[in-house]
Amino acid sequence: MSFHEPVLLEEIIDWLKVFPDKIYVDGTVGMGGHSEAILERSSPTGVLYGFEWNEPSFELAKQRLSKYGDRARLFNLNFIYIKEVLQKEGVLADGILLDLGISSFLLEHSGRGFSFQKDEPLDMRMSLEKELTAEKILNIYDVKRLSQVFLTGEVPSAVKFAQFICERRKRKPFKTTKDLVEAVKEFYKSSRKSLLAVIFQSLRIEVNEELKNLEKVLKEVPEVLKTGGRIAIISFHSLEDRLVKNFFKVDPRIRPVLKKPVVPTLEEIRRNPRARSAKLRVGEKI
Ligand SMILES: C[S@@+](CC[C@H](N)C(=O)[O-])C[C@H]1O[C@@H](n2cnc3c(N)ncnc32)[C@H](O)[C@@H]1O
Repeated sequence: MSFHEPVLLEEIIDWLKVFPDKIYVDGTVGMGGHSEAILERSSPTGVLYGFEWNEPSFELAKQRLSKYGDRARLFNLNFIYIKEVLQKEGVLADGILLDLGISSFLLEHSGRGFSFQKDEPLDMRMSLEKELTAEKILNIYDVKRLSQVFLTGEVPSAVKFAQFICERRKRKPFKTTKDLVEAVKEFYKSSRKSLLAVIFQSLRIEVNEELKNLEKVLKEVPEVLKTGGRIAIISFHSLEDRLVKNFFKVDPRIRPVLKKPVVPTLEEIRRNPRARSAKLRVGEKI
């Protein structure tokens, strides 16, 4: 069963320098595609510490990777705990991967309202440990906070759209993704996929505190990388990519390995359109 095609797979294996006897971390195991490739290439002795906070994804990945026995050490946790777990285990990593954002499984099968093409409750929590949902944001945030969510997410006419949402919810509270799609159509007089995608993404980022998590993990992972160890990060939007690029530039513990990000080939994009906005950046511990 495949719910997600791993993006930039060969590139990740090359740039992370995957070999036996080494220790790797996959901070975003998802369906386990990258994890499985890392375990294969580091066979027979490489070890992988995997983190996945979405409960159903974690269970599926656990089953898929069970054939690797003790070489696959999986944690149903937010990747902000990488440092804590590795320090508790007394290990440093040779390579760390973060494949940010959302999986095809979450979009298609979670029922949590990530896709504007389905009518589902406006939840958008990747992990049920979180309390905030997209429904609460749309119905409770005041204009200022909601504007900030849309501004951060680079939504067009962010402030005016936030004002419109706050007026519209007096008539009809937001409950499902269909309510949000209708509001977008009413306000923008358009239901362009790229517009809907950016609006849904901005709410998902807020619900899951995605930028905050990324900032925290970037600050901490250099402490659990061996000298010469690498961190590879795939991002899917400019907000994340900017954070990563800047981190590699200013953190004195890490040197950027690549001048420009690696992007998927046309062949990969044809096979897997979800890969089209992926950017891979790689840093090395000094
Ligand atoms: C793009 S998918 C990863 C796909 C994976 N590389 C594969 O090959 O199947 C991102 C995954 O990371 C998870 N995720 C996102 N943020 C996370 C976080 N802060 N901590 C742990 N998992 C996270 C999501 O639940 C999702 O399953």
